[in-house]
Amino acid sequence: MSSGLLVLGIETSCDETAAAVVRRSRTGGMTVLSSVVASQHEIHGPYAGVVPELASRAHVERILPTVREALAEAGVGLGMLSAVAVGHRPGLIGSLLVGVSAAKALAWALDLPLIGVDHVQAHLCAGALAAEGEEPPSAEFPALGLVVSGGHTSLYRMSSLVEMERLGGTIDDAMGEAFDKAATILGLPYPGGPNLDRLASGYAGPLAPEFPVSRLGTESLDFSFSGLKTAVLYAAKGVPGDRAPAPPPPLDDARRAMLAAGFQRAAVKAVVLKLARAAEHVPGCRMLAAGGGVTANSLLRRELERVAKERGWRLLLPRMQYCVDNAAMIAGLGSVLLEAGRISDLSLQAHPTSAC
Ligand code: KG4
Ligand code: ZN
Repeated sequence: MSSGLLVLGIETSCDETAAAVVRRSRTGGMTVLSSVVASQHEIHGPYAGVVPELASRAHVERILPTVREALAEAGVGLGMLSAVAVGHRPGLIGSLLVGVSAAKALAWALDLPLIGVDHVQAHLCAGALAAEGEEPPSAEFPALGLVVSGGHTSLYRMSSLVEMERLGGTIDDAMGEAFDKAATILGLPYPGGPNLDRLASGYAGPLAPEFPVSRLGTESLDFSFSGLKTAVLYAAKGVPGDRAPAPPPPLDDARRAMLAAGFQRAAVKAVVLKLARAAEHVPGCRMLAAGGGVTANSLLRRELERVAKERGWRLLLPRMQYCVDNAAMIAGLGSVLLEAGRISDLSLQAHPTSAC
């Protein structure tokens, strides 16, 4: 194995128990040696959303086997590690505490640096991760950052992978949350986002109605998805009360797919619109860094590629497996923080909110 820092990453902020080992080379490249994700979809599926108490309990059961598997897959013994990084914010507090406690115990027992990582910042680092034998993507700054996940929808002006200022964010639902709710309205199984994407992408019928794209005035860099969600609800189930023009057509498979395609088109359009506005706030922008579960969306990926190409920006877009929650992005950002000397101590706390 070639030389470099070996960082173990641990992630338990929501409903995935994850552990990964990342090697940081002397030139700053981040190579994923293993990334194990134990998903809890089967536990939360019947409730169509994450049940915090069930999530914490599942993390407790899964954390040690997941860490062991990540080390074994990477071929890395505990004694070879350079540091332990853990996502300590934002997230469900009971879930975060499981990862934070495990990371503290390991760091203390092995006498290794402990690194607290902000999960939202880590999503922006996911595009810089490479597989073994692959050339790690290089990052260029200043950059425009976009996080679109189940809990966050935010834009950043980035001067490095760890220095950033928030330019705007959602004032109601996060983009992934809107996908999940629209999927529920359309009767699609949990987790909604990927299922809605699949349905919308396979649809080639007549265009859906133009759903509203929220602009919030001419200057705002904030997002709002609640109007779009309500528009899908009314189109699917009808307008409630006396204002109802006529009952909607039956929600059969074709109509479901048409509404899914219309929703996806409007949601992605809102992001593209705000990226254009935000670009004005990043003078000399050289890169677009995007991350979070919704960057797995097929239409959004195509649009981000188009926007970056048109503007001559480098695009840092995660491989599919690093869009949704994972611990490789935690280990990756942990390695950057380790090199920058930004190390935590055993008083590290779990926080429900992001610091950025
Ligand atoms: O980043 P992530 O795994 O968790 C959070 O940090 O929130 O994001 C999960 C979100 C969910 O809302 C999920 O429905 C959405 O990402 N998502 C997608 C797709 N894949 C995952 N949304 C739209 N299209 C997809 N292909
Ligand atoms: Zn996430």
